[in-house]
Amino acid sequence: MITCSAPGKIFLFGEHAVVYGKTAIACAIDIRAHVTIEEINSPAVQMKGPGGNVDLNQRKHPYIYAAVEKFRHLADLPPEDATTASGSGICIDIHSEIPVGSGLGSSSAVTIATLKSLDVFYGTNLKLDEIARMGHQVEEDVQGRASPTDTFVSTFGGLVRIPDRVKLDFFDAPIVIGNTRKFSSTRKLVSNVASLKERHPQVINQIMDTIGTIAETGVKYVTTNDFTTVGELMNINQGLLDSIGVGSFELSELVYASRKAGALGSKITGAGGGGCMIALCEHKNLSRVAHSIKRAGGDSFICRTSNSGVRVDKEK
Ligand code: PMV
Repeated sequence: MITCSAPGKIFLFGEHAVVYGKTAIACAIDIRAHVTIEEINSPAVQMKGPGGNVDLNQRKHPYIYAAVEKFRHLADLPPEDATTASGSGICIDIHSEIPVGSGLGSSSAVTIATLKSLDVFYGTNLKLDEIARMGHQVEEDVQGRASPTDTFVSTFGGLVRIPDRVKLDFFDAPIVIGNTRKFSSTRKLVSNVASLKERHPQVINQIMDTIGTIAETGVKYVTTNDFTTVGELMNINQGLLDSIGVGSFELSELVYASRKAGALGSKITGAGGGGCMIALCEHKNLSRVAHSIKRAGGDSFICRTSNSGVRVDKEK
């Protein structure tokens, strides 16, 4: 039996502008997806469910299915149609702490933890960059287009500058996450921003440049742990995200509630439109900020940035 886990992620700076090649900074957080694989007697790939094991199903488990399909090229997995086969199979159990569809990279974390579990279970000895690359392909198979950021951060952990995907000195910070519980479609928001940019190229290009400059400026302050300046830059970034139309009433309420409760900086993380916001806080304010986000109508939880990427948690 093998259990691996991989982290979710936040954007400290630069989402949306990174689509146009500008700098952004993403970071892993200490909430994780856990995947366990164990051997079973029937020659199939099954998923553990509340009512017992069920066969892996492309429609119900698209990411696991695509990850398993990729792995068939590398190892001797039970066939998809197990009716004529004999021998043993595997059962996959997923347990994720990361809210789904909220921009915290839950599908990437599940995908990367699954690939690593398969890697260890079948002894294929993949390198981390191969796991990150396969993870990105899995996301593209399922979603059509996918950015490689989530799978990269989930694999390597820590603080990552994108689009060049360079790991920076770690920024160890307490963060409160506020979730509007409103689903947001990254594809739709990216396309809304593209059409705004088409209508007002001069205006929006400058905003994208400035967001990129905020992220570049931010590198210096995150790597020297200057929380106050990082917070200030996050607030400027938030204003610009609002200006390109990816904010929402609910997100703004959570952002302002967190600032009022003492957050050093707060902004949308990811595509916006719904999903989550993040608040950078001093330790003494963490629970006040978390409560204030709840009072403003969001779910909230306290987490930390994390330097730990995909890892083996248990092997027996
Ligand atoms: O909400 P998420 O985690 O899918 O983040 C989207 C980030 C964007 O910059 C808006 C898109 C991208 O591909 O980088």
